[in-house]
Amino acid sequence: MKALVLAGGSGTRLRPITHTSAKQLVPVANKPVLFYGLEAIAETGIREIGLVVGDTQAEIEAAVGDGSAFGLQATYLRQEAPLGLAHAVLIARDYLGDDDFVMYLGDNFIVGGISDLVERFAASRPAAQIMLTEVGDPRQFGVVELDADGRVIGLEEKPAQPKSDLALVGVYLFSPAIHAAVAELKPSWRGELEITDAIQWLIEAGLRVDSSVVSGYWKDTGNVTDMLEVNRLVLESLEARVSGHVDEASELIGRVVVEPGAVVERSRLVGPVIIGPGARIVDSYVGPFTSIGAGCTVSGSEIEYSIVLPRASLEGVRRIEASLIGHDVEVTPAPNTPRAHRLVLGDHSKVQISS
Ligand code: G1P
Repeated sequence: MKALVLAGGSGTRLRPITHTSAKQLVPVANKPVLFYGLEAIAETGIREIGLVVGDTQAEIEAAVGDGSAFGLQATYLRQEAPLGLAHAVLIARDYLGDDDFVMYLGDNFIVGGISDLVERFAASRPAAQIMLTEVGDPRQFGVVELDADGRVIGLEEKPAQPKSDLALVGVYLFSPAIHAAVAELKPSWRGELEITDAIQWLIEAGLRVDSSVVSGYWKDTGNVTDMLEVNRLVLESLEARVSGHVDEASELIGRVVVEPGAVVERSRLVGPVIIGPGARIVDSYVGPFTSIGAGCTVSGSEIEYSIVLPRASLEGVRRIEASLIGHDVEVTPAPNTPRAHRLVLGDHSKVQISS
């Protein structure tokens, strides 16, 4: 069995962060979201993974390399344009050969791994096995209709009028039967070859598609709200560890990780919180569910329930909440007069100001 990991796409909902970095590399508890997926795949015993990459190939390759850090052998498969999940399967045809495979969307976060799913698939070998979960707004997902016995009878991609609130989770298991389906597809209304349509094709061809409904199991980290929520989830299982320097005047409460080379002075950190290598926290408050990246500076500031990417600095600002702050960003107070905000914001930035 192989894995096909999708690490292309443009990440429009995470702009401007994704103008300069791949959405799969946005960190959760200071580790790229993609790495959690790779670890989950390695745990199943799968060794060969094909990474489907697009414009951000160089960055993904720099992060994952040959896969050996995860116990995997990585092969990069270039998708010239984001033409859909089924298109990714199409270009991976030679790589996949006649093996079964798990397709894993690189920006999805699955709590508890995928080993059970892979074992179940290997034991019963349907043409496809999908995972479903109830969502608030099914129009944003692939949606499944089940019959009274729980069998999948129809699938639709981002329907205007969903037939259920059961969305497809971004982990799919396929036998080689999927290739015939993918080869027959026409682009959808959004111009993509949809894996949802390929699975529908399998059903219409009379092949077996198994599904299971899961809850509290999954997040698509495509937007900031979900990203912060996944960060919270991961930080929930953090174990306290102080490898950096914390001075006498500081107070650490609950589960706080201070990585090597980080310095905490005259500050109060209420966990779960992670402070990355080389970061400096001075005269500040860092509240629950916050990940501060490597080399950041937080000085005279308060921050909570947020993700701060490497080398950003917050100086003299209170109070930041529910925020995603990019690499090398500088947040400082404006001078008192005139009372005005001074902003230098990249394209697609989102700022909420309380004044
Ligand atoms: C894709 C699939 C959709 C699935 C979703 C899960 O959507 O097309 O069926 O529900 O992933 O994350 P996309 O990321 O292309 O919007």
